[in-house]
Amino acid sequence: MVFISEPSHHFTVRIVSGLLGILVLLQSTTCTPLEAAKRDSLQLVQVIFRHGDRAPTYTYPNDPYGDISTYWPEGLAQLTNRGKMQQYELGRYLRQRYDGYLGKKYTQQELYVTSSDMDRTIMSLESNLAGLFPPVNKWNPNIEWQPIPLRTIPWKEDKLLHVNVRCPRYHEIRRNFLSSSDVVKKINEDNQEFIQFCAKKSGLDAKTVKDLYPLLDVLYAQSQHNLSLPEWAQGDTLPKLIQLHATTNTWPTYTDEMKRLWGGPLLGLLIKNMMAIAGHLGSNPEDAHSVSHGVNRKMLMYSAHDSTLARIMNTMGVFEPHCPPYAAALIVELHQDPATFEYYTEIHYRNDTTRAPYLLTPEKCGYPCNLREMIEKTKPLIPVDWVKECQLESKPTNFFTLRMGSTSSSTAGLDGELLHSCYLSPIQLTLMGVGLFSISALAVLIIAKVLQGRKEDNYYDDSGSRPLFVSLWQNKPFYGAAYEKL
Ligand SMILES: *[C@@H]1O[C@H](CO)[C@@H](O)[C@H](O)[C@H]1NC(C)=O
Ligand SMILES: *[C@@H]1O[C@H](CO)[C@@H](O)[C@H](O)[C@H]1NC(C)=O
Repeated sequence: MVFISEPSHHFTVRIVSGLLGILVLLQSTTCTPLEAAKRDSLQLVQVIFRHGDRAPTYTYPNDPYGDISTYWPEGLAQLTNRGKMQQYELGRYLRQRYDGYLGKKYTQQELYVTSSDMDRTIMSLESNLAGLFPPVNKWNPNIEWQPIPLRTIPWKEDKLLHVNVRCPRYHEIRRNFLSSSDVVKKINEDNQEFIQFCAKKSGLDAKTVKDLYPLLDVLYAQSQHNLSLPEWAQGDTLPKLIQLHATTNTWPTYTDEMKRLWGGPLLGLLIKNMMAIAGHLGSNPEDAHSVSHGVNRKMLMYSAHDSTLARIMNTMGVFEPHCPPYAAALIVELHQDPATFEYYTEIHYRNDTTRAPYLLTPEKCGYPCNLREMIEKTKPLIPVDWVKECQLESKPTNFFTLRMGSTSSSTAGLDGELLHSCYLSPIQLTLMGVGLFSISALAVLIIAKVLQGRKEDNYYDDSGSRPLFVSLWQNKPFYGAAYEKL
């Protein structure tokens, strides 16, 4: 300040500000955040990413590192310190890319984040946010971190991120696809020798390429942590397992009907969020995880899995068969052309931290993909009534919607509307109470029976994850059982 009032220092000021200008210029070209024009046209950013590095989900019978507590102190399937770093780095990258579009200070109007209901995705999201929103007006001078709210979707209801939910029609087509499609038959036949080799060495009961997934899961995690693999697993084994899994990544969404039932709900959400911003749709109070009305959020983040990325990318027609690495991020940007006011989308995929994200072009839409065209082209892939199309008998009651909606809304209107739609008369409530009581009593009996009789009755996704309660209840490592069902 003293500078400026002193005439003799004017020259210095010019030089300093000139240098600063050059620095700023240099920075904007070398760090390549979004160019200014792009930032001006940006209306919404949706990021879907895979969690960071994790411990294996399984172990296999002949695993030399089968002693979990020694080799994986975090526990099976948990995020490792390396995974936290990868997510923190992704958060820093997003800050750099969107700085200026996003304010430096966290506000709930700008950001809404959702995670699948798993430890590793929730912890990934937290690590990521630490990089994206370091505290501005620190609440504690010694802590470089601030709390930011995040939501999860209970795994039993999740048809968006970690899809584990019941959908009889989908499971029927998928079973048929796996048992009788030529694609699957051929790959299983061509690799019979390899499958038998892996089964013999590992002690896994593997008959098809899909049965090898647990082995890949374990070997990959071990190799990432520099544990030397048994001799039989060295050389070509791991690369071959990876290559086979890359192919099978397209299977859950192989046909259009599979895409519609399994990838459609998430694609539908991404599109609805963009429509809400573009004004085609005012609000969507039903869906707690979408842009809620009255608030034009700038960024939505979804913390998820490799299977989520494969599923959504294959459904959008931008998937090149591969295994999405840890912390890989699909970024769907909505822009508005300042000249024509048209909305268009850009899809970026960051699966390599050493280069700029890949710009992906949907098969059926091209670049830039006009929002209206995208809505039109993806219509056949988005279920109108998912419950009905899945051939599930009944809809979940509004009670659960009410709870989800009211806990995650940030606007007053949302609660009101949901409450209204859930209003019940005293007679209805009494009847419901009596009904609920008898149903609960019956349910307790049935559950006890089922728990006794059946060990596994869950629909697993391809990330090989499983609900926590199964692990607590079996209290031992698990392999393969999910795949036997399919
Ligand atoms: C494994 O080894 C590589 C190369 O020496 C090293 O960069 C990496 O940090 C190691 N990874 C772990 C998890 O120790
Ligand atoms: C990253 O994505 C691109 C584009 O889909 C793909 O070609 C490439 O194989 C992927 N690489 C990795 C390491 O995942």
